[in-house]
Amino acid sequence: MPHPLELYRNKPFYWPDAAKGFKYLCRALLAAPYGPRMRITLRALTDEDIEAHNAGEDEHTVRWLNGAPGTAETTAAHFDSLADNARAERGKRGFGVCLDDRLAGYVDCDPDVTDGLEPGDVNISYAVHPWARGHGVAGEAVRLILEYMRDNRIGIRAVVRVDPDNVASVRVAEKSGFIYVHDFTSGTDKHPDGTPAMLRLYVHDMEAPSRPT
Ligand SMILES: CC(C)(COP(=O)(O)OP(=O)(O)OC[C@H]1O[C@@H](n2cnc3c(N)ncnc32)[C@H](O)[C@@H]1OP(=O)(O)O)[C@@H](O)C(=O)NCCC(=O)NCCS
Repeated sequence: MPHPLELYRNKPFYWPDAAKGFKYLCRALLAAPYGPRMRITLRALTDEDIEAHNAGEDEHTVRWLNGAPGTAETTAAHFDSLADNARAERGKRGFGVCLDDRLAGYVDCDPDVTDGLEPGDVNISYAVHPWARGHGVAGEAVRLILEYMRDNRIGIRAVVRVDPDNVASVRVAEKSGFIYVHDFTSGTDKHPDGTPAMLRLYVHDMEAPSRPT
C-alpha cells in the first residue's frame, strides 16, 4: 500500500482541472457583491423601467440583438406592446430580468418569429446589462422563461438563433440545454455591411429539463 503522500505526488497535473478551479474561484469572487445566492426574477416592464432598460444597452446589445439603441419613445412603445400581448395571451411575451430587485436585463419568447424555424418553434431572445454580465444571469433568465413557456403551454420547441461570433450567447444556449441543429442563412438578420447573417439554430424540446443533467 503506497503512502498517501506518494499517491498525491504521482497524480499527474491536469491543466483543464486547474483552469476549471481557477474559473470557479474567479466567478465566486466576482459574485461576492451579490451575496452567496443571487436572486434572479422575471417581471413585467413598465414606464418606470424605460431609463434603466435603455441605459443597460451597449454596443453588444445593439450588434447582436436590436440593431439600434432604444429611445424613450421606442422603448415605451415596445413595453406597451408587451403589455397588450400579455393581456391578449398572444405574440411576444417579454420581461425584465431582475438581479436582487435591480433591473439587470431582458428576456422574451416570441411564437411569431418564423425565420429559419418550424411551426411550433418559439424564439427566445435575451440581453443582460453590462454591469451584471458574467454571473450566470442570462442562464438563469433562460431557465425561468422556459418555465414560463411550459406553465403557459407556449410552443413545442424553444429555439435560440445566434451568430457564431457571439460566443457568450452560444454558451448561454449550450449550458441551458439547447441542442445545436445547423447553421442557416437568415432571411431577416443582416451583418452591418448589409449581407445576410449566418445564424446557428439551437433547439430545446419543451419536455426536456432546462439544464443538462
Ligand atoms: C449574451 C449575454 C446575454 C450573456 O449574459 P451573461 O449574464 O453574461 O451570461 P451568463 O453569465 O449566464 O453566461 C455567459 C457564458 O458565456 C461565457 N463567455 C462570456 N464571454 C465569453 C467569451 N468571450 N468567450 C468564451 N466564453 C464567454 C461565460 O464564461 C459564461 O459561460 P460559463 O457559465 O460556462 O462560464 C450578454 O453577454 C449580452 O447581453 N450580450 C448582448 C446581447 C446578446 O448577445 N443577446 C443574445 C442574442 S442571440
